[in-house]
Amino acid sequence: MSEASTLLKVEDLYVKYRSYWYTYHVLDGVSIRIKPGEKVGLIGESGAGKTTLLKSILRILPPQGRITKGKILYKDINLLRCSKGTLLEIRRKKVGMIFQDPLAALNPVFTIKEQMVDILKYIYKGSNYKKSDLENIALELLREVMLPDPERVLNSYPFQLSGGMRQRVVIAMALASAQELLLADEPTTNLDVTIQAQILKLISNLVEKRRLSMVLVSHALGMVRSMTKRIYVMYGGNIVEEAPSSKLFNEPLHPYTQLLIENAPKIIATKLGEGIKGNPPDYRYPPPGCRFHPRCPYAMDICKKVKPLLIKVNNDRYVACHLYAEKDMIKKLEV
Ligand SMILES: Nc1ncnc2c1ncn2[C@@H]1O[C@H](COP(=O)(O)OP(=O)(O)OP(=O)(O)O)[C@@H](O)[C@H]1O
Ligand SMILES: [Mg+2]
Repeated sequence: MSEASTLLKVEDLYVKYRSYWYTYHVLDGVSIRIKPGEKVGLIGESGAGKTTLLKSILRILPPQGRITKGKILYKDINLLRCSKGTLLEIRRKKVGMIFQDPLAALNPVFTIKEQMVDILKYIYKGSNYKKSDLENIALELLREVMLPDPERVLNSYPFQLSGGMRQRVVIAMALASAQELLLADEPTTNLDVTIQAQILKLISNLVEKRRLSMVLVSHALGMVRSMTKRIYVMYGGNIVEEAPSSKLFNEPLHPYTQLLIENAPKIIATKLGEGIKGNPPDYRYPPPGCRFHPRCPYAMDICKKVKPLLIKVNNDRYVACHLYAEKDMIKKLEV
């Protein structure tokens, strides 16, 4: 793919967190790319590094987090090298993020109006907008997220709104700066299932209407499948598989993806899956070779020693697994 057709390109990204005693080696050479208007999903168990990846893109990791290697290109701007001004401009006008915890994104002691105007002031810094103009923009954004009685919402405090309404406010705020790319990190955590579906549908419609690109992180795998064209699967700080969404679910290649899909809680299931056996890697001492090998039912000797690279297995599918390094092994798995 040429650079011109890529909106965002993350290349071989390494991120570590440091505490007083330990270093956590989380992202371990992650690469992803997104074309203009493309919607991609990012799935994987809790702790896989999904939020770390999204926060790295916006350069908003907590102080303990460090990007130690790699490249993040937004169009042709290297976000790891560009000036602070350029980075702020991208955060203000181009890329918006819906954070995993909507309550944390809203301040309980200010009204929605005060909070939205504050953000809009920052986004439209340097323009001639008056406070009343910004209030109108806020109102318009609330209408766009289909909040009934947006005037009332604007004058409310967060605690006066339901969880679903608060989440719509958070989406409206993210939309204000997402003029090109929306990073949606678990936009429906803590909401009940029916509201989850409504919110995801809303996001899907808004992204379509505004022709945004999107990275969607969610544990609601069925929704990710229907809302995206391509999916990246993350395990232990690595992308282990990438495929068009329907192909990934119809025929998952990586043993981890297979287990992830098999164990996904299904609404129609009479009992919940037990989850994938074993634990995610301890990032202080990640396993050598393939980070998934201690939990992998097909682990071979080489998996304990050599890290598998993400390789193309046919036109549009990529997998990081030694089983696929040899064509005849693929056949074996298919039987
Ligand atoms: N501030 C931090 N300090 C130390 N380690 C951290 C910090 N934040 C995250 N980590 C480590 O990074 C790992 C990945 O965290 P991250 O939040 O990116 O996972 P995630 O895939 O978003 O999980 P979830 O689905 O639960 O949101 C965590 O397991 C944790 O060990
Ligand atoms: Mg997360």
